[in-house]
Amino acid sequence: MIQLLNPAARLSGVVPLPGDKSISHRYAMLAAIAEGTSVIAHFAASRDCHSTLECLQALGVDVRESGETVTIAGRGLRGLKAPDAMLDAGNSGTTIRLLSGILAGHPFSSSIAGDESLSIRPMGRIVKPLREMGARIESRAGELPPLHIHGGILKAVRYKLPVASAQVKSCVLLAGLYSDGITAVEETIRTRDHTEIALREFGAAVRNSGNWIEVEPGPELKARRLTVPGDLSGAAFFLIAAALVSGSDLRLPAVGLNARRRELLNYLVRAGLDITVENESEEAGEPRGDLRIRYRADVLQRTLPPICGKETASLIDEIPVLSVLGSQAAGGLEISDAQELRVKESDRLSAISANLRAMGAEVIEKPDGLSIRGGGRLRGAEITTRSDHRIAMAFAVGALAASGETRIHDAECADVSFPGFWSVLSGVRAS
Ligand code: S3P
Repeated sequence: MIQLLNPAARLSGVVPLPGDKSISHRYAMLAAIAEGTSVIAHFAASRDCHSTLECLQALGVDVRESGETVTIAGRGLRGLKAPDAMLDAGNSGTTIRLLSGILAGHPFSSSIAGDESLSIRPMGRIVKPLREMGARIESRAGELPPLHIHGGILKAVRYKLPVASAQVKSCVLLAGLYSDGITAVEETIRTRDHTEIALREFGAAVRNSGNWIEVEPGPELKARRLTVPGDLSGAAFFLIAAALVSGSDLRLPAVGLNARRRELLNYLVRAGLDITVENESEEAGEPRGDLRIRYRADVLQRTLPPICGKETASLIDEIPVLSVLGSQAAGGLEISDAQELRVKESDRLSAISANLRAMGAEVIEKPDGLSIRGGGRLRGAEITTRSDHRIAMAFAVGALAASGETRIHDAECADVSFPGFWSVLSGVRAS
């Protein structure tokens, strides 16, 4: 599907957000291995989270969906059934990497694969620690999916993460539930901690000790009733769109404000955006609050703070749309230490620079980042999304601020994290 977009005169109203994708995956997986029936409200309707639900069903888990509420009958820590066929993680790195940690703890063989994009994403980062823990895993050359996992009782390890990745950390912690002692993971660069929070909520013993996160093997997990907060990474597209389109005023209710994800808000406020947070609360260890953003004319006269070092890891999913903002700020934007973007759903550094250039911006692509020259108005263009949801939505934001018409190719890929994105966008825009 090609989505046509013209410049917007103003954005206003309320933006209904899908449930947070990262948290939904974790709640579903933990519910599946808990004792009893969990009810998860505002579960992400995203294609990625459906891949997780379908994999769990193929592992014998009873999953019922009613609107945005998902009910999962847990099978207990070691209760998953050997699947009859290859598990399909679709486009979802979180599904394949986190579920592999759980599969490694089950005494059967299973195979898991994904779509074209997932098939070329690196799995060595989870295969290595799982092998150290004693799982037998076969993969395609270069540690690519499909993964064939032969699991059982695992050995506890103390594992230093070689790459700042919440998915790898989570994989090892989940496998730690099945190990013969305390498993620990060291992260020197902090990444999202939804797994640690959710594990505690379901009753696992997880401790932080300096940079180390320790998990004790298997107490039985207890089913929970939980509500997933709105997805802050999905909110990012609307926050930045409102910063670019004059006169905008948007409200985003019940957005997840986990401290490690909230770095995005801190960054945007430092960049001068007029964002307020109201009605802050916390449920199941995950903070949430209502956001309001109002357009402020002087923001684009500024230079955006450079994105580098530890901050890059905190903003990793928002860099595509931050790059669009950077192209419109007078001083541009420098991004470094972002080599991980080359192994996301697409090579995002390459996709961002190609599409920004197509819209008339000047960009230098570096091995680990981008140097974006700011200030010139974008012009409408053909956007090649590479079927990457965050590229499609980031350039939709660019299109609202551009001159002329933009055509976003393969626009349906937005469903991977934000089903309904195009209609939510048209619902808040005045043309
Ligand atoms: C995610 C972690 C991040 C992020 C992805 C979701 C998660 O990936 O990019 O969209 O839910 O744990 P890495 O951990 O590979 O950086």
